[in-house]
Amino acid sequence: MNNNKIIVAIDTPEEERLIELLNDLNPDLCMIKIGSILFNSLGRRSFDLVADKGFNIFFDIKFHDIPNTVAHSILSFKGYPINLLTVHISGGINMLTRAREAAHAINAKIIGVSLLTSLDQKDVERVFFNDIQKVADNLFNLAKEANLDGVVCSAYELKHAMTNFPNLLKIVPGIRLTSNNDDQKRVMSAVEALNLGANHLVIGRPITESKYPNTELEKILETL
Ligand code: C5P
Repeated sequence: MNNNKIIVAIDTPEEERLIELLNDLNPDLCMIKIGSILFNSLGRRSFDLVADKGFNIFFDIKFHDIPNTVAHSILSFKGYPINLLTVHISGGINMLTRAREAAHAINAKIIGVSLLTSLDQKDVERVFFNDIQKVADNLFNLAKEANLDGVVCSAYELKHAMTNFPNLLKIVPGIRLTSNNDDQKRVMSAVEALNLGANHLVIGRPITESKYPNTELEKILETL
């Protein structure tokens, strides 16, 4: 049975690199994230390449548009092997409802993106004129009201989300094994995030940029 706790984000525009990583990673140990870098470069072919190797797919395309556009975009993926699919919760209740109906019609779970983990308190204040916790809480409420299957959130919102939104799946990016200097600001270790209630962890560069990606993945799994 596949262990889907860790979702490896393969953020590359190159088919050769994608294939290299897919050949190295063990489909029993992780799921694969197809996000905008991969999808905008390789298009729908990326689904075949990933699914043919036996991996489950997290399609983190983060749709954010009017309800009709989002719903029809999602329906256009009928027949594709997508397990989880993302939309921005800030698209509003009508968009979320249509997105949920469309995702379920193509047998995918629908996951709402709350706040990007690259945003810190100052960034959130500049965009939303409010503090992170209040904005996140408001977005979780919308996700619940629209009956989404889950949310993408930072590890720092997990405790609160577990108490107030126990039925939403929690997918957590911003996982780091050591201190980092990249663009992620709200980071935590894999074991801490799982202990706080995360269902899936999205991990990109710590695995894909290591010399031996599958060995790195195994090392992370051993810490859990
Ligand atoms: O390389 P890294 O581990 O930072 O990759 C994290 C992945 O999770 C990226 O593909 C990024 O797009 C995604 N993500 C995120 N924050 C969110 C939602 C998705 O970092 N709120």
